[in-house]
Amino acid sequence: MYPLLTAILGLTIFSTASLASSPERAEQIVNERCHLCHGKNGEASSAIYPRLAGQNADYIVKQLTDFQLGQRKGTMNEMAKDLTKDEMVALGFYFAAKPPKSHRVRDQEFAAVGAYLYKNGNSFSGIPACQSCHGANGYGTATLPRLAGQHKRYVVEQLQAFYNGARTNDHAIMHSIASKLTEFEMQALAQYISGIE
Ligand code: HEC
Ligand code: HEC
Repeated sequence: MYPLLTAILGLTIFSTASLASSPERAEQIVNERCHLCHGKNGEASSAIYPRLAGQNADYIVKQLTDFQLGQRKGTMNEMAKDLTKDEMVALGFYFAAKPPKSHRVRDQEFAAVGAYLYKNGNSFSGIPACQSCHGANGYGTATLPRLAGQHKRYVVEQLQAFYNGARTNDHAIMHSIASKLTEFEMQALAQYISGIE
């Protein structure tokens, strides 16, 4: 009796989970809409759009939720408007499973400044090491964004958005960090981050 019950329950849980994260549904949405800007494999169609390949699933779900609720503002508000929770989860898994790419770094010396800041912070102005949250390799965690390989321009724009308060979703941490970063430091960090594999 018991094993049978467990089997039935197990089956129910399994089918709910596979429905919630249906890869087919995610692919359909990506082909219909997201690919225009983020690319079919999250590689981004242009450097003005963030790469989503290899981005952490939970982080993607959180951002889509924030866009839907209007807690993070921009182009994405319209895109996330009618997504269900299940679709957001499916999209999170979809992009998280795509292989991320990195950029070729043109200015190695400048990137080295970024690498120093990323790993050590700046004790003179009270900036913590980015790696303490985003990880030594910039891979983030389940809830923290992956930064490795992200477009330079997007990284700088987000740091500026945290700085000037345009990005206010969960901005407490990144706002206080970005408010201490100079333009030079933002650009150096972005240069380094874009090249992390
Ligand atoms: C018209 C272009 C466009 C389309 C189409 C689009 N996005 Fe976006 N997306 C953006 C831009 C631009 C940003 C950067 C945030 C901003 O400035 O609004 C972004 C940001 C995001 C982010 C946050 C990334 C991060 O690192 O924080 C996620 C997740 C996302 N989009 C998912 C999607 C999904 C899923 C779809 C399809 C349903 C989609 N986007 C369709 C332009 C687009
Ligand atoms: C105490 C933890 C913490 C530290 C230290 C930290 N971050 Fe973050 N960072 C976060 C969190 C949390 C988010 C996501 C906020 C959200 O949910 O929208 C984030 C988001 C970001 C984003 C936006 C990513 C995206 O895909 O949109 C960038 C860029 C970023 N951080 C860069 C940095 C840099 C550069 C440093 C070092 C100078 C740094 N962070 C240090 C916690 C941290």
